[in-house]
Formats: sequence, structure tokens, C-alpha cells
Amino acid sequence: MKILAIESSCDETAAAVVENGRRVLSSVVASQVEEHKLYGGVVPEIASRRHCEAINGTVKKALEDASIGFDGIDAIAVTYAPGLIGALLVGVNFAKGLSMSTGLPLIPVHHLRSHIASNYIAHPELEPPFLCLVVSGGHSHIVEVKNYTEMKIVGKTRDDAAGEAFDKAARTMGMPYPGGIHLDKLAESGNPLSFRLPRPRVGGAPYDFSFSGLKTAVINLIHNASQKGSELPAADLSASFRKAVVDSLTDNFLRAAEELGYKKLVLAGGVSANSLLRRRIAEECAKRSWECYYPPLELCGDNGAMVGSQAYYEYLSGNTATTSLNARATMSIEQ
Ligand code: KG4
Ligand code: ZN
Repeated sequence: MKILAIESSCDETAAAVVENGRRVLSSVVASQVEEHKLYGGVVPEIASRRHCEAINGTVKKALEDASIGFDGIDAIAVTYAPGLIGALLVGVNFAKGLSMSTGLPLIPVHHLRSHIASNYIAHPELEPPFLCLVVSGGHSHIVEVKNYTEMKIVGKTRDDAAGEAFDKAARTMGMPYPGGIHLDKLAESGNPLSFRLPRPRVGGAPYDFSFSGLKTAVINLIHNASQKGSELPAADLSASFRKAVVDSLTDNFLRAAEELGYKKLVLAGGVSANSLLRRRIAEECAKRSWECYYPPLELCGDNGAMVGSQAYYEYLSGNTATTSLNARATMSIEQ
């Protein structure tokens, strides 16, 4: 089964053709990040406009790259939640139009479920059940993936998402948006023990995260130093901050795996590109003889291929939509 998949939930317009959930025949990503950089973050109104401009060409190129026409496509999939509502609406309406004009089934895909599915593309042997740490710009969840379409959130952030905390700390250090990757790179040359930063815990909810206090601690350190006319060593501060975030993610994830009895651990979402997080989870799993999976870097960020992968399994579970499908800014991964 060949699925044409469309993604427009944030600042990437993406389309892909994916066969049977695992084989990527084409994948095209048109990023708007250079424009949003000027404002230090994603401007929703600009994102919607750029999606409108890019979507036609992106979908056309995905079909061309796969050397396929609509006669070779079996279904149209689209990210419909969660995300920026104006941005999502562009992809959803485009997909609805395609479904209506071709008569092909329409498959709605949850954005975080598709991040998890990026692992199915990279690791043909990977099958649920497993425990997944889904860490992106907007979410930080520990999810029991019971089967391809049945998920249960066992831990989540009470405030900022991990990616958001990385981006805000990086921005205060003067790095361009999105700062997570820059902070990660700089941290490689710093000493993670230079600064003592908090490791927040959420009372009574051992798998939940809280990153806002950590983010504020770093921002205060920088502001206090600048008021005294001094500058903090950026590599050391980056390394200390990255370690604090990764300690928190890793501790809760491993604890959940131990207590819930999972020996197969998976990372997903933009922050799964973080080099320390990848190393730490791989090392900890190796120590315990557990299986460990994360997506290749090119599949960590938003893309259409992961949507096409998850869509296949949604279709097999009977999750299709009519053309009354609407976009939703928020929606639980469990639904
Ligand atoms: O999954 P994603 O593309 O967007 C959402 O669905 O929200 O994730 C983007 C997030 C941004 O916050 C970005 O800074 C972060 O992923 N990110 C990283 C790294 N690469 C991307 N954070 C830490 N280290 C990285 N190497
Ligand atoms: Zn994403």
C-alpha cells in the first residue's frame, strides 16, 4: 500500500510517499526556519502563509521523486493534530481536497504518533510493545506504545517541553533559533560539572518532568553575570544545562521502564537528535542488555515520511476520516 503523506504542523511543509509503513519512496521537506530565525521563534501567521505557498510544489515534488501519479497512490494521509492551528489547516485542507478529487481514503495522523513511527522506517525489526520517550519542541512524554495505535501516557512535563527549554536557554545565550542543536554542539566542548543546576522532581508523579525552573535558573545566571559586566563560559554552561535536562529525561525514562517492565526503549521527536541523550540511553540500555532505538538525525525533525509510516498502521486499524475532518491544536496521543 502506497500512501502520500502531508505534514504542516509547525514550520516545515513536508510530503512523502511511503510503502507499507516502512519503505520511503520519496520525502521532501521545505523548511521555513531561516525566516522564523529573524524573530527568534516561529511566528504562526507567517508559518501559515508559507505553508500555503509551499504545499503545492512540495506534494508535486514528492510524487515526482517517487515516480508515481495518483493512480499509483492508495491513500492520502495528513497530520491533523496537535500543532499550530493555522499551519495544520493548510495541510488538512490540501489533503481533503486531494482525497475528494481522487476518491482516495483520507487518513488523519497524530503528530507525536508519527514521530514515534520515524523509528519504524529506520529499524525494520522494531515492533510494539515498547516504551517511548517522545521529546519535541512542544511535548515531553513517556509513552507506553502497546501496539501501533494504542498508547498510554505514563509521564509528561508539567510546564515547558524539553525542546522549548533548550531553545529558551540557547536564546538567552545568544544562539539563533532553534537553539537546541547549537547548544548541543557547544556543550560537546564544555565541562558539564561547571555549574550546579537544579534537577526538578514532581512530587507524587515520579515519571513527570518539570523544566521551567531549570530554564529560569540558567537565565538568571546569565542575567546576573551580565549585570556585573561579566560573561559566563558558554560551552560550560551549555554542557551543564544539557546534562541537567538529559539527567532528568533519562532518570524518569529508565525508572518507568524498570517499574513497568519494558526492555525495549525508543526515543522520538526533535530532541531525540540530542547527542548526549542518544549516548546516555544507548549506554544505559547496553548495561541492562535492553534494546535501544532512536531515529537517524534526518528523521528526528518534522518530515512527511514518518506521517506516511504511522498512517499505514492507522489505516490497518480502521482509522480513516471523511472530508469533514478538522485540524486540532491540542489532542492527546492516546486518542
Ligand atoms: O519534533 P520537532 O521538530 O518539533 C515539534 O514537533 O515540536 O522538535 C523541535 C525541537 C526544537 O525545540 C529543537 O531545538 C529541538 O527539537 N532539537 C534539539 C536538537 N535538535 C533539535 N534539542 C536538543 N538537542 C538537539 N541536538
Ligand atoms: Zn514535531
